[in-house]
Amino acid sequence: MLIASLKPRTMGGTTNTGLLAYALSRAGHTVACYDADESLQLSAWGRDVDDFPCEVTIADTPAFAETVYPKMDHSIINLVDAGHAENHPDIVDAILEVTDLAIVTVSPTKPDYDRLTQPERGTPLAKVIKRSAALRESGKPPATFVLLNRCQAGSGSPKKYTGLLQTGGEDGTGPRWNVLSTRIPRREDIASAVGFPCNKATRKAPYDALVTELKQLGYLP
Ligand SMILES: Nc1ncnc2c1ncn2[C@@H]1O[C@H](COP(=O)(O)OP(=O)(O)O)[C@@H](O)[C@H]1O
Ligand SMILES: [Mg+2]
Repeated sequence: MLIASLKPRTMGGTTNTGLLAYALSRAGHTVACYDADESLQLSAWGRDVDDFPCEVTIADTPAFAETVYPKMDHSIINLVDAGHAENHPDIVDAILEVTDLAIVTVSPTKPDYDRLTQPERGTPLAKVIKRSAALRESGKPPATFVLLNRCQAGSGSPKKYTGLLQTGGEDGTGPRWNVLSTRIPRREDIASAVGFPCNKATRKAPYDALVTELKQLGYLP
């Protein structure tokens, strides 16, 4: 299977991809990572850090569906890290054409909510996901979940933005999103995870919970 880690122009995508791969691997899954962000930070993390769980293949190409996807081992869990959707719409389109599941990283803040739902420039990600249906074998968009990250303990923002995302905004006319109940906390250890060892309790616990939730939802083998 293929899981895509997507995001509007925000932060936390590569962190979430790498630490999810690590959690999946510790849960007994065989994983492979693909770096479809031109910044290539996932690939550098995989290259430089001993406990990174798998190989990372560079895959920042709009021909992802034709040249990368067919060569994957589809019996394992493949994870692809995409860059900002506004900057790389061609690559995101190509990933959405073939992914089984899309996880969209955003933080529960107004700027992130606006970038996801009504960016000043570019196509809103909901529309990009919806239109991917035309190119997919199933004729339907991939299952998509928002993963809230940088959630401050004790803050009301995660609940507020979960509500707005689920109900289509203040006036209820926007797209409705599935929001994972797992929330990635705002933590220094997670902020500085990319490029460093994964094996730290604070880098493991939220992503173990994410694996458990994805399993409960029926999206993991
Ligand atoms: N859970 C978190 N808590 C606090 N800061 C975070 C968290 N996740 C990401 N960040 C911040 O975002 C920055 C970029 O993270 P990264 O995963 O590389 O983002 P992206 O791949 O989306 O550009 C980190 O250096 C850190 O400052
Ligand atoms: Mg990145």
